[in-house]
Amino acid sequence: MPPRSILAGCGGYLPERIVTNDELSRTIDTSDEWIRERTGIRQRHFAAAHETTAFMGTAAAAAALADAGAHAADVDAIILATSTPDQAFPASALRVQAALGVTRGFGFDLSAACAGFIYALSVADGMIRAGQVRGVLVIGSEVYSRILNWQDRGTCVLFGDGAGAVFLRASTGVDDDRRGVLSTHIHAQGTLGDILYVDGAVGQPDKPGHLVMHGREVFRHAVTRLAEAVDEALAANGLGHADIDWLVPHQANSRIINAMGKKLGLPPERVVVTVDRHANTSAASVPLALAEARADGRIKSGDLVVLEALGGGLTWGSALVRL
Ligand code: COA
Repeated sequence: MPPRSILAGCGGYLPERIVTNDELSRTIDTSDEWIRERTGIRQRHFAAAHETTAFMGTAAAAAALADAGAHAADVDAIILATSTPDQAFPASALRVQAALGVTRGFGFDLSAACAGFIYALSVADGMIRAGQVRGVLVIGSEVYSRILNWQDRGTCVLFGDGAGAVFLRASTGVDDDRRGVLSTHIHAQGTLGDILYVDGAVGQPDKPGHLVMHGREVFRHAVTRLAEAVDEALAANGLGHADIDWLVPHQANSRIINAMGKKLGLPPERVVVTVDRHANTSAASVPLALAEARADGRIKSGDLVVLEALGGGLTWGSALVRL
């Protein structure tokens, strides 16, 4: 039987600086009430100059390795999902490789916006199942504070910075054969690229780029696509809503999260929510939420967890994991 990917450890990192809605409302025409009512966000973390994608990714990855009881020598590959890399190249994944003292294997960055972690998990799982690697760090790390348009109050209040990571290892004969990544399902629709995008990049003359979003359009697609992706994951494994122990959703907006919980028939206490404290940390949001719920003991070994996310592209996907 081919190996499966065991999710052996989780870790997260948040910048020290916390910015509340009230603090934002001192320089932006907004209010704590508007932000909380529309999104559930109360505060977010913003990175200091030294807290780059690679720096935060390294901290989250080191925590995931420690949680797994693994070491740099166990890492065959590092896949880092980000839209805000430190440099065009080398990949931020390789800055993490160097910082962790990993001296072999390979690594690369993956660009799928807020769905990046699900995409990265899917790629890593495929490589483990194919027997190409045995230990993979899958990281989501983002500094959206560097690409926000502070003149656009409809977007700049929604995002925060941070990193999350998991360490996946190939199963061995002694592992319970129900454990691990059961399946991943990733999708994209490039024709919807203009509802959420960054209007520039390193390759564009004089245009580093700012985030642009048509919030209502994104909202409309989010609930439908995410529900489809979760049902697809359950159907692929012959499981139903009643089998889910935990939903760990992308943390963009509490209204989308609540709608998803309802569609799946899950009580609120079975849905992991961090958007109130982290805001939307894009590719970092799912692994950060997972790390928090593992560390505080809510998600236990043996629990069936659904992960889902949707982002610019449009990209979206889901994963079913038994811890
Ligand atoms: N503070 C105060 N008022 C604000 C504001 C802010 N930060 N941002 C926008 N507004 C105002 C608008 O100017 C508008 O005022 P008007 O009616 O006088 O023109 C009003 O609030 C409504 O704006 P609108 O953009 O239509 O709000 P909305 O109800 O669609 O909520 C979002 C905006 C962004 C919260 C919502 O569309 C959303 O959550 N979308 C999904 C976003 C998402 O999940 N993205 C990430 C996917 S990875």
